[in-house]
Amino acid sequence: MTNISEEEYDKFVKLIFEEIGITLSEHKQKLLESRFYKRMLHYKLESFSQYYDLCLENFTEKIEMLNLITTNETYFFREVDHFKFLKNYLVEYDGATKVKIWSAASSVGAEAYSIAMVCDTVLPPNKWEVLGSDINSHVVKKARMRLYQLTWSEKIPKELRQKYCLKGKGKYEGMFLINRDLAKNVKFQTNNLLEPNPNFGKFDIVFLRNVLIYFNDATRKTVIQNILENMKIGSYLIISQTENLNGLNIDTLEQVESSIFKVLKESK
Ligand SMILES: C[S@@+](CC[C@H](N)C(=O)[O-])C[C@H]1O[C@@H](n2cnc3c(N)ncnc32)[C@H](O)[C@@H]1O
Repeated sequence: MTNISEEEYDKFVKLIFEEIGITLSEHKQKLLESRFYKRMLHYKLESFSQYYDLCLENFTEKIEMLNLITTNETYFFREVDHFKFLKNYLVEYDGATKVKIWSAASSVGAEAYSIAMVCDTVLPPNKWEVLGSDINSHVVKKARMRLYQLTWSEKIPKELRQKYCLKGKGKYEGMFLINRDLAKNVKFQTNNLLEPNPNFGKFDIVFLRNVLIYFNDATRKTVIQNILENMKIGSYLIISQTENLNGLNIDTLEQVESSIFKVLKESK
């Protein structure tokens, strides 16, 4: 296997940053080499430069390359306080219109289905909907399949697990499936948070967790500004408890808890 040269590495770093806003640190050469090598073998390419040129020429391969870069770690009911906040919000909800919730950067869907389970325990099915979105087309496909390793169900509260998770049998032994009726109100779509999403409509709550960490301040600001375009006045933005919006100077948001922000006015 050939090594990636400094020049080749820099070219990929720039392309990845421009496309999805992720800044790779200086020490990720080995990671790129191992992840891209399979693709190079597939195309019988001899150098990383050739693979780079292919990514520029071939849109599908560029997406494939970007899929290899994203970190998709997730689990059900991650940061459980946010789900308590959600439940309280829903209990107080006047029910006049449908509650719309967006799991932005939803990975394989554990976050979106966790949100859905809470919604369904509080509201009738016609009063809520969840959208999950992610840049990585593979995880979006997996989310739509709603099939997970059985060990993942351990994080789901027992009564919700019993209600919404179907244990697999035969070739699905060791897996579980999310209830089909619950999934009817959950849609998944690919999207890039660096770009505006005028077709998504306006949301009441947006979960934007464990993704800002990969961006620099300028990109974080762009992402938040884009998301604000899709938020109603009085809606809530939830980020991870390990993240913050410090230094972004977004005056349309009021911090109501350490990782929860309320939208005060329409963004321009
Ligand atoms: C660590 S996962 C977080 C999943 C989930 N929100 C959670 O907290 O468990 C980060 C996700 O962000 C997605 N992502 C990274 N850059 C993105 C971008 N520019 N636009 C949309 N999604 C992106 C990745 O593909 C990945 O699935």
